[in-house]
Amino acid sequence: MGNEQLKAKNIVITGASGGIGAEIAKLCAANGANLVLLARSIDKLEQLQMELQQKHQVRVDVFKLDVSDTNQVQAVFQQTFDKIEQIDILVNNAGFGVFREAHEATMDEIKGMFEVNVVGLIACTNMVLPKMRERRFGHIINIASQAGKIATPKSSVYSATKHAVLGYTNALRMELDDYNVQVTSVNPGPIATNFFNIADEKGTYVKNVQRIMLQPEYVARKVVDSMLTKTREINLPRWMNMGSVVYVLFPRLFERIGKRMMSSK
Ligand SMILES: NC(=O)c1ccc[n+]([C@@H]2O[C@H](COP(=O)([O-])OP(=O)(O)OC[C@H]3O[C@@H](n4cnc5c(N)ncnc54)[C@H](OP(=O)(O)O)[C@@H]3O)[C@@H](O)[C@H]2O)c1
Repeated sequence: MGNEQLKAKNIVITGASGGIGAEIAKLCAANGANLVLLARSIDKLEQLQMELQQKHQVRVDVFKLDVSDTNQVQAVFQQTFDKIEQIDILVNNAGFGVFREAHEATMDEIKGMFEVNVVGLIACTNMVLPKMRERRFGHIINIASQAGKIATPKSSVYSATKHAVLGYTNALRMELDDYNVQVTSVNPGPIATNFFNIADEKGTYVKNVQRIMLQPEYVARKVVDSMLTKTREINLPRWMNMGSVVYVLFPRLFERIGKRMMSSK
């Protein structure tokens, strides 16, 4: 069963060249939505564009974009508005992580993660807000992480960026409540994507969490099913969210017991 509301809607996805962004794009196209796909790897975007246009007869525009470059963000969204009248759904998915202990993280990595995961996401959101508020219609979906709900050792900076995304998302939801613009955060646990090529150089984390890894198609399906619905948060796998509830209630105990388990990177 698909999401019938998506037919002929215009959906912008950042970080659509691979991983869950590309899977979300495929499902949106299968539901008859028109797409604007953004990422730095323009060749991968063009390949996906060709595949989706042929398979689903939908309109797919692609633009090379590094979301950490605010001028580029403004220019690309302006070009998007020149081509399509309005954006109905924005999926802020572009992001990356580097798993290191705090004292090992370089300033370039730290700034890079904040510039892409936080500032980039906010910059893209700012580009759609005025029209969505004016039209009193739209949906902003921010891909955060379970790392935004539970701080985990050896990924302090990544975790901090995702906590920032959740703080921003929650405030945004309240600001837009009277404007009929939906705001959803997506908080997955580990997903089998290329994310870990950068995040987990040694492959230790991937090995340790192999048996609980989510498939990108499954995560994408949950995201697409929630589009244009009043879904506050998507937490995957659902049992993992219990961890953040316990964390809020018993933080000392959680940190004492969870420390070793969550350090397995
Ligand atoms: N995999 C996981 O375990 C996991 C778990 C929870 C949350 N997440 C979050 O899910 C999102 C997608 O991750 P994924 O797992 O699908 O990873 P992925 O396979 O590495 O895909 C990341 C996507 O982001 C794009 N991207 C990275 N830096 C960018 C930049 N500066 N400007 C524009 N696009 C950029 C990449 O495209 P280009 O390289 O072509 O730019 C790629 O399309 C991220 O926000 C990540 O933090 C992932």
